[in-house]
Amino acid sequence: MTRPSLRRGLMSAALGLWLSCSLPGQASASDAPIVIKFSHVVAPDTPKGKAAEVFAKRAMALGKGRIKVEVYPNSQLYKDKEEMEALQLGSVQMLAPSLSKFAPLGVKEFEVFDLPFIFDDYKDLHKVTQGPVGARLLKKLGAHGITGLAYWDNGFKVLSANKPLKTVDDYKGLRMRIQSSKVLDAQMRAIGAMPQVLAFSETYQALQTGMVDGTENPPSNLYTQKMHEVQKHLSVTHHGYLGYAVVVNRKFWDGLPADIRAVLKRAMAEATQVANDSAFQDNQDALAKVKASGRTTLYTPGPTERLALKKAMVPVHQQMASRIGSDVIQEIYTATGFQPHATH
Ligand code: LMR
Repeated sequence: MTRPSLRRGLMSAALGLWLSCSLPGQASASDAPIVIKFSHVVAPDTPKGKAAEVFAKRAMALGKGRIKVEVYPNSQLYKDKEEMEALQLGSVQMLAPSLSKFAPLGVKEFEVFDLPFIFDDYKDLHKVTQGPVGARLLKKLGAHGITGLAYWDNGFKVLSANKPLKTVDDYKGLRMRIQSSKVLDAQMRAIGAMPQVLAFSETYQALQTGMVDGTENPPSNLYTQKMHEVQKHLSVTHHGYLGYAVVVNRKFWDGLPADIRAVLKRAMAEATQVANDSAFQDNQDALAKVKASGRTTLYTPGPTERLALKKAMVPVHQQMASRIGSDVIQEIYTATGFQPHATH
């Protein structure tokens, strides 16, 4: 290398180093705002979609031009698995994956939220998401380059297929789409179904083409993806819960100026309030819309049928204890008063 080109090489290496070391909030002294790309996989008019919009609006208003939040719904930017990788690589800054999607990262404890029947209602759930267990689980994400900011509610799941789902026997042999969770896999096997992991964005088509027979999700997700148009029967089992952890790339978050972080935390608290206040109603409304569409027949199991489903599914808690950690399961039982052998 000649001397001038050596000097040029050294200068560009130094510039590269400076750029890669500079913090996001200090990337330049210019007025360019800090951009937060927030990617998610559901429709804008779902609990998560609405909360993401509220967060964006409030963060931008409170940030007074210093923050720009771009929300990309409906897997526009990334599908389930890709979005987690994109976050770790820093291609997006913020996500709100469902709690079931953290185990593949190596934080298996999150699958505790998938255990069937573990929460009776939102009150039970909040004892965990707004208590010490929830906080501890979010902290565990730190080791994976992710900072957990909040839990956002969605709701309790229904099961759907193209045949009536009334008794436990009705699930036998059905190919059921699930999220990538070993607990959900075991739950479907416990009722004789054949679980199939698919990205959320691929579910509608898989149902439409008959690649899978049925699925589970809260009504807000089912309705906004039009899954009811390709599922003739739905059972309001409320057998399990689906909700979210809002997460940011850790390096990005730690590198933000403290006042910007404070603004984002405030916007997040407001968005969380909106999500958690509206999730129940959103799901009720979605169920009513599915019914009104006339495309799907709704069935609500009576206490005896629901108990039979519970008895078939609850052994999954024990089966999965060594994977999730019996201490976490026990802590949740203690917080909510759940009794695995209760007959109601
Ligand atoms: C699913 O894959 O069914 C859900 O996790 C989608 C979501 O984000 O609510």
